Amino acid sequence: QLDVTSQPNSMTQVDDFDSQPTLKSVEMERQDLPIPALLEPVSQSEEKVHYHITAQEGETEYFPGIKSPSKGYNGNVLGPVMRLRKGQEVTITTENQLEQPATYHWHGLMLPAEADGGPMRVVEPHSQTDVHFDVKNEAATCWFHPHTYLLSPEQLYQGLAGLIYIEDENSDQLKKHLPHEHGVDDIPLIVQDRYFVEDGVVDYEQVFSIDGTRGDHLLLNGALMTKFNTHKRFLRLRLLNASNRTNFKFAFNDQSQFFQIASDGGFLNYPLGMKSLILGAAERAEIVIDLKDTEEEPLYLMVNDFKALEISKTGSLEENVDFSYIYSLREDLLNTIYPEEVADLPFHHILFQGTDERVAVNGRKFQQGRADETYKKDQYYVWRIINQKDDIENMPHPFHAHDTQFRILARNGKLPYKNEMGYKDTLVVNKGEAVDILVKFPDTGLFMHHCHNLEHQEHGMMTHFEVEE
Ligand code: C2O
Ligand code: CU
Repeated sequence: QLDVTSQPNSMTQVDDFDSQPTLKSVEMERQDLPIPALLEPVSQSEEKVHYHITAQEGETEYFPGIKSPSKGYNGNVLGPVMRLRKGQEVTITTENQLEQPATYHWHGLMLPAEADGGPMRVVEPHSQTDVHFDVKNEAATCWFHPHTYLLSPEQLYQGLAGLIYIEDENSDQLKKHLPHEHGVDDIPLIVQDRYFVEDGVVDYEQVFSIDGTRGDHLLLNGALMTKFNTHKRFLRLRLLNASNRTNFKFAFNDQSQFFQIASDGGFLNYPLGMKSLILGAAERAEIVIDLKDTEEEPLYLMVNDFKALEISKTGSLEENVDFSYIYSLREDLLNTIYPEEVADLPFHHILFQGTDERVAVNGRKFQQGRADETYKKDQYYVWRIINQKDDIENMPHPFHAHDTQFRILARNGKLPYKNEMGYKDTLVVNKGEAVDILVKFPDTGLFMHHCHNLEHQEHGMMTHFEVEE
């Protein structure tokens, strides 16, 4: 029985904020927020698209005049935005110009195991390979990053992450209601924390932590101390927590209400008003802020207690969309939440155990190629993910599963937060918590579920599962 009486809009507790390094302000002039470019396809038609992505070594000036080694896709750091459409046939040429193996994982996408870019799909240095898949996802903000066995935490920390925007008929329809001009009123925000050594260099080896490498500086789209000028009334921010481990809390400095419109896997039923929002590692949220309602000038997007993005209004505000008149973002999530037979579905426990070297799932550590679980394609399952209380140390874990957009059924037997009632592929499991999710896999092959604290992932908090016909 679910308790429907106490159901906050968004996650109110993540129990490790006290242990996080305080995000520091830097004595430098705020710079314009860099906007990742929309990637030009190699070729494109209505039905097909071909992209080319190259992972490469680069150099980035986080601090003026100081060059830091970095890694990027088709550039020095981070990557461009790849746009896909539901139903499209996709080819991506994945090229590796790094001096180390790479893999290319499309986080949140449902696609065959051969295209999923897990640790088994290595692209060796100075070589390339093509992946093919059809887009099954609905309109959503997803992302891509390395999943290279033992190397993915360093590769992400040094800069390998990019966004994927998926569009469909529904998002076409919503264009009159939702800001959608890239970099103008539809703003990607890749949010990461970093430590700097030697006055301005990112060096993963030196700051590595086995429980997730964090930082005391905040990067937005790869830059410190950013600002954004606008004359549009409604701004849409596509938030991606691309940290290795850290949870971020988002709010505005004047406590303005904003609206969450989408979670990991697509639109929520309707815009959900809230004043703060927490995202764990790898989670996404799209939010819309009405600048007409904000009092402060400039306004700041706060990340934890840090003034992350300065937003200045230039002149009078243009009515860019009729956001106020949305009554529904989609039709199907409200009443038909779960298949009626949920209670009779096959049930499976996933026990997240330990911290540091001791991390494990159901008593085992990840082994490449060994499938520990088997599921049937297109069949519903209920998974109970448990963050097991530990005598030595406890911490929240961001859980993620491949080849699925799942629904959260319950947290500790209660309905999930309202902003978790859409499609999800990642969720934070708090200390001692049990979260029930409804999963289904549309593809066959060897996939993974794991902790998206990347250092935990590479120390064994990851499980292969096989999906059979
Ligand atoms: Cu974002 Cu298994 O990964
Ligand atoms: Cu973990």
